[in-house]
This record gives sequence, structure tokens and C-alpha cells, in this order.
Amino acid sequence: MTDVHKRYGDTRAVDGVSLTVRRGEFLGLLGPNGAGKTTLVEIMEGLRQADAGTVGVLGTSPWPRNLALLPRIGLQTQASAFFVRLTAREHLRTVAALYGAARDAAERTLAMVGLTEQGDTQVEGLSGGQRQRLAIASALVHGPELIFLDEPTAALDPQARRDLWQVLRDLKGEGRTIVYTTHHLDEAETLCDRVAIIVNGRITALDTPARLVAAGSGNTRLLVPADRLTEARARELPGVLDVQVDGDVVVLETTEAGPLLSAVEAVAGLQGVRTRTASLEDVYLQLTATGDR
Ligand SMILES: Nc1ncnc2c1ncn2[C@@H]1O[C@H](COP(=O)(O)OP(=O)(O)O)[C@@H](O)[C@H]1O
Ligand SMILES: [Mg+2]
Repeated sequence: MTDVHKRYGDTRAVDGVSLTVRRGEFLGLLGPNGAGKTTLVEIMEGLRQADAGTVGVLGTSPWPRNLALLPRIGLQTQASAFFVRLTAREHLRTVAALYGAARDAAERTLAMVGLTEQGDTQVEGLSGGQRQRLAIASALVHGPELIFLDEPTAALDPQARRDLWQVLRDLKGEGRTIVYTTHHLDEAETLCDRVAIIVNGRITALDTPARLVAAGSGNTRLLVPADRLTEARARELPGVLDVQVDGDVVVLETTEAGPLLSAVEAVAGLQGVRTRTASLEDVYLQLTATGDR
């Protein structure tokens, strides 16, 4: 997509986004609530019309509504609709039939998202996380080559989240292209080939997680139990750039962990001391803190 814009009244939801997703790529869209991620994804999906700019999906245009694209793309939207009176299995078979997918595809996909045991449960009787997994299954059941997922892990418990990671990795391993949004930065860091950080409808950073982290401050944090080091004392240590107290730990920020670690050892010992190198979360917080919305 090139220079895509979308306004709702005075709100510039997407404000000049140019982005190319490569075949087989796993792209993450990150950004605060209201940044424009869903609007952007829905424009790619052909669910919304851009006001301006050009959008191409798999070599064709998703708008006006392009039925030829539907078998080739899979979508899980933020507000998924279900056939609530059907069982999970019936729902998925219905979706599979709509797309002309093989009959065993429903069963396979149900297993893939860990819902085999809930196959006979009515959709309205599923928990939030189970519904979420059914929505994801509905996006995948016809084996699309391009998959859009909007906060797929939002309602999932930690184990279900990890299980979904594996599903997504497998899909990528099969050569499928995945575009997804998430608020879980650790997840984006481990799954995505590239991430786009979106603030106020614009892409403020787009690169591999590793390069984004390397281009960030690169500072390391030392986490010291607060009962052994006061904030004031921490500030006096050599090479300390910043000190914050976070619950029962004192967090010391530095560019050079080695000398600071020695200094901490001398005054507090190393028992229970942890180091944390820069992560995508740090970069994200830097980039989004400067947002002016
Ligand atoms: N249908 C709509 N009508 C009016 N404003 C909308 C609509 N959808 C989204 N918005 C606004 O557009 C902005 C971007 O929203 P959205 O794309 O949902 O962001 P995100 O998914 O990043 O949270 C927000 O300010 C939101 O309130
Ligand atoms: Mg959204």
C-alpha cells in the first residue's frame, strides 16, 4: 500500500501509510489503542475503503469488495461474528463449506487451535478464549495464503497464547504470509520478521525486532532487591544513568553493565540481582511516549 489515508470525521485514523508486506513474511503491527491498526488491517482486508492512496493485495485490489480474493485470504477481526447456536464443530464446518474447503479441514483446524474437546459445545457456551480460538480457526480453515489476525492473543491465557504461537510458526513454516496486531511486545519480538510501530495513524518505525532494539537506547537494566540497595545509594554508583524503584526492586539503567555490576556486588552483593537487556518493549515505549495524541 502506498500513501494510504483514512479519516473518520476529524480523526485521521490512517495518515499516510506506505507499506509492503513480503510473501511469506510475518509482520506485526504494534501501537497504542486508537493508533489506527485495525483500520489499516481492515483496509488491507477489503473491509474498509481508503480515502486516498493505493492498496494491492496478492496482485489485485481489495476494494471494491473483491470476491476472488476471499479464498486466498483469512481474516480474524476484532469483533468476530459466529453462528452462536451451532456447536464449535458445526460452526467451523459451515465456514469451511462457505469457502469450499475439504470436509476434514474443519476437524484438522479445530485440533490445530486446541478445540477438539469443545467441538460439541455450542458457540455461546464457549469461554472468551475458546471463542477467540474459534475465530482464529475460522480464519485458517480454508488454508489461505495470506492471513490477517487482529489481536488474536488478546483474550488468551498464557498457555493458549504459547500454543497459538506454535500454530502461527507452523503456518509461517508452510510459506504463508501473516499480518497481525498485538499488544504483547514479547510475542511480537519472538514471532515477527518485521514489526511496524504505529502512532497516530503513521508508521514511526518499521524493521526487524533485532534492528529496532539495536537502534534504540541499547541500555541495560540491573534489577536489585530493594531491601539491599536504597535509591539514593544506587544513584551514587558509577555508570548509573537512571534509577527507578519498581515494587520491591530497584532498577538501575546503564550503558555498561560490567562495571556497574561490580559496584553493585561491592555494596549489596549479587544475590537476587538480575540484568535485563534492551527489548522491543523499551523501544516501543520510547517511540509511543512521544506520540502527541
Ligand atoms: N467506524 C469508526 N468511526 C469513527 N471513528 C473510528 C471508527 N473506527 C475507528 N475509529 C477511530 O479511528 C482511530 C483508529 O482506530 P483503530 O483503527 O480501531 O485503532 P487501533 O486498532 O490501533 O486501536 C481511533 O481514534 C478510533 O476512535
Ligand atoms: Mg484495533
